[in-house]
Amino acid sequence: MDSIRIRGGRPLEGEIEIFGAKNAALPLMAACLLTEETLTLSNIPHLTDITTLAHLLAQHGVEIGMEGNARRGGNAGRALSLRARQITDTRAPYELVSRMRASILVLGPLLARTGRASVSLPGGCAIGSRPVDLHIDGLTRLGAQVVLEDGDIRAHVRGRLRGAEIRLPFASVGATENLMMAATLADGETVIRNAAREPEIADLALCLNAMGADITGIGSDALVIRGRDALSGTEHHVVSDRIEAGTYALAAAIVGGDIELAGAPAALLRSLLDYLEASGVAVAETPRGLRVRGNGRPAATDVTTQPYPGFPTDLQAQAMALMTVADGAAMITETIFENRFMHVQELRRMGADIAVRGGTALVRGVSTLTGAQVMATDLRASSSLVLAGLAAAGETVVHRVYHLDRGYERIEDKLAACGADIDRVHH
Ligand code: UD1
Repeated sequence: MDSIRIRGGRPLEGEIEIFGAKNAALPLMAACLLTEETLTLSNIPHLTDITTLAHLLAQHGVEIGMEGNARRGGNAGRALSLRARQITDTRAPYELVSRMRASILVLGPLLARTGRASVSLPGGCAIGSRPVDLHIDGLTRLGAQVVLEDGDIRAHVRGRLRGAEIRLPFASVGATENLMMAATLADGETVIRNAAREPEIADLALCLNAMGADITGIGSDALVIRGRDALSGTEHHVVSDRIEAGTYALAAAIVGGDIELAGAPAALLRSLLDYLEASGVAVAETPRGLRVRGNGRPAATDVTTQPYPGFPTDLQAQAMALMTVADGAAMITETIFENRFMHVQELRRMGADIAVRGGTALVRGVSTLTGAQVMATDLRASSSLVLAGLAAAGETVVHRVYHLDRGYERIEDKLAACGADIDRVHH
């Protein structure tokens, strides 16, 4: 298993290009199941989660073509063409689904297109219990019969799904996406209330509309979807990754320096930018993206994760890394996931002073972290350890880097190009 070795203390200078968003690309790929025509997606990041979903789609009968297998400085990215001419198998097996929770996103499209689907209960990062009840309840409202059998979610519908009014008790990102996709091929109108408003959902809705769907209320918490008999193919450019951009912004904040994040979606990062400014980090929008200048110890600043447009849970671990070296004490409260503090014990190994009570961590800033051997436990926790390693005195080795490869393309190359002393060790 690969690890990442970092010798900390070198400020970041230069430019980092931000790629397409994993959390937009995954549902967009699943959307190909809704049409027999070709869906072409550009700006696809090179990540193992993308490969995992491509394998799953191939299992359903999707023909997949890939263009551009290396990035050469430009931001054209990689394009995927996906054609579900015929769905040959409506089962999503445990061996693929257990690797990634987002596999659940094939459930709604398969059911809407073919009238049946059997998806193994998903796995993914071990952050809390992460049930899928909202997906199942919503599909049931659309007329599906769903049972849990032998670890599988088995759903079928006689004829077509039927439009319905669905109120989500919690604004789940995945449930909103699954139900929105399913409703595009339902008979009649569906309204999803208390829908999640993450920008990746808007990106999916825009693509679905380009495929012939009729979705209004995009970006709001009430989505109205008028079902169509069929959707067509289209081409779509995946929105930039606000979480990748936010992670590098926090990297510049923790170790200092001056970086420009080319292609960073500043408008989608308001809550982070406010947070950085409150912490004394200089951020400025530029014509190309975002410029971030870290300058000395940040001011301790409290933060609470919230659904969009609030502070993203996917940046909580990285913000905590920043607060470990803050001047003062900060409270970090996680409200989206139950068990998303697994980075705490690893950060402590590096000298961080963190106390956890329930969903809140009290982080008392220390003047320096020290390098250590640490273990990545989930995707975003892993990047927080890389950030801490950049700031720490001495050498840090982050083990189990496969978590990082699920969500960050070439993180070590991007940071090394800005002056960090970081490399990947192949074992
Ligand atoms: C998506 C993102 C993930 C991000 C999360 C929250 C993708 C591929 N992943 O995950 O990076 O951290 O949004 O912004 O886009 N829940 C239920 N029942 C359900 C569904 C969810 O109780 O049926 C709970 C979950 O356990 C969790 C919370 O709701 O505590 C948020 O989950 P959700 O918004 O669904 O996140 P994901 O779509 O899994």
